[in-house]
Amino acid sequence: MNSTDIVILAAGKGTRMQSALPKVLHKIAGKSLLAHVLDAADSLPNSQKIVVTGHGSQQVRDSFVRSDCTFVEQPQQLGTAHAVQMALPHLRENATVLILYGDVPLITPATLKAMLNAVCDRQISLLTVNLQNPMGYGRIVRNQESEIDAIVEQKDANPDQLEITEVNTGVLALGAKQLQAWLPLIDNNNAQGEYYLTDLIALARSQGYRVQSIQPKSATEVEGVNNRVQLSQLERAHQLELAEQLMLSGTSLADPSRFDQRGQLTAGSDNYIDVNCLFEGDVSIGSGVHIGPNCHVTNSRIGDAVVIKANTVIEDAVIGDHAVLGPFARIRPGTVLGKNTKVGNFVETKKAYVGDGSKINHLSYIGDAELGAGVNIGAGTITCNYDGVNKHKTTIGDGVFVGSNSTLIAPLTILDRGFVAAGSTLTQNVPSESLAVSRTKQRNIEGWKRPTKKED
Ligand code: UD1
Ligand code: MG
Repeated sequence: MNSTDIVILAAGKGTRMQSALPKVLHKIAGKSLLAHVLDAADSLPNSQKIVVTGHGSQQVRDSFVRSDCTFVEQPQQLGTAHAVQMALPHLRENATVLILYGDVPLITPATLKAMLNAVCDRQISLLTVNLQNPMGYGRIVRNQESEIDAIVEQKDANPDQLEITEVNTGVLALGAKQLQAWLPLIDNNNAQGEYYLTDLIALARSQGYRVQSIQPKSATEVEGVNNRVQLSQLERAHQLELAEQLMLSGTSLADPSRFDQRGQLTAGSDNYIDVNCLFEGDVSIGSGVHIGPNCHVTNSRIGDAVVIKANTVIEDAVIGDHAVLGPFARIRPGTVLGKNTKVGNFVETKKAYVGDGSKINHLSYIGDAELGAGVNIGAGTITCNYDGVNKHKTTIGDGVFVGSNSTLIAPLTILDRGFVAAGSTLTQNVPSESLAVSRTKQRNIEGWKRPTKKED
């Protein structure tokens, strides 16, 4: 395959976003619009990317650290042809050039490949789409042989042309040589006084070139973002696609319109995900997993047959097979839960390794801790890992039982099958097989009289 030079236009101000942030840095599925376009472009082998920036140039550049991407500035926005002109010095002589837009984020690799494949000797390609309401778009003008002859912008179109429903998406592909030759010929003699890239089509025709049209699989691929309403609409459309991919790969969703994925999600089969769950970063889910409503999972690995009950938050963690979590569990970074573990309501874990079959069922904080297998942590147990300056570790052996409301002051080790009496505050290690009790002895006062209510 020839080399491909991808020019991405991203200089526009995006006034209608009503935002200090450059438009192309607004996000869909947690990733900036421009990053979506760059990722799609990455799928093309032997490609280099040239991003044309203008408004918020520096901010846009600073958001991307990529060696395969060149940023060029268009100091004044004089039109789409002028924008592409800024990229001309960077084009490789024999490359095929693909023009994309930083605010049209959902274009797919398949469409880009089809566009490139259609470029050949004396032929360029143009991505067009039929819209019920073509208002605002450049119209595709075809001749009697149904060949594309020109694009006419809305503001320059006559009443007949305004009836045309096939519109220009803006995406086009052609040889670098042709672009270098034709672009300087474009003038700004039109209703908007801009240099229109769309004039390339009529120029190509006048040079005896054919214009091959390609259609995207779905119209969302070519929809642009001009305001926050459109941003949210594309977000939903994209989320629905992600939800459908997940369902087709064997995971049931209670409601695909109440599912959100911001990153990579891989899942086995026969999983069930209830409403309003959000998956961020890199998440993998095994098979036979049940996730209740309102769960938030970030950068984590969930094993097989795990049950995650409502309102559980999991971040940077590994969850072993058959574990049961929540409702209302908070699994913080560095948590590794073994197989058949249980972490119940209002339990917070952080940097905690929890061995197979261990249980922390209610209202606990377990941080900087290592628990063996078959441990039972009673309700309200706290590892006091922080002395105000440093963090310290708690180590708990296999089969240990920690009674409710215990305070484990780290550094602390409880050896295998140690037993901590409820309500203890531990500052010393516990030998194996022994009972640790650390609480004031109970005193009963017989015949004690309750206070009586004072007369006013
Ligand atoms: C353009 C097309 C129109 C097409 C529509 C699809 C032209 C003349 N018209 O119209 O046929 O139907 O897109 O959405 O090309 N940009 C720059 N520098 C500039 C001008 C624009 O970088 O000087 C960028 C903008 O940031 C934007 C894109 O190019 O991402 C399109 O520009 P815009 O002004 O929105 O063009 P339209 O009038 O929508
Ligand atoms: Mg536009």
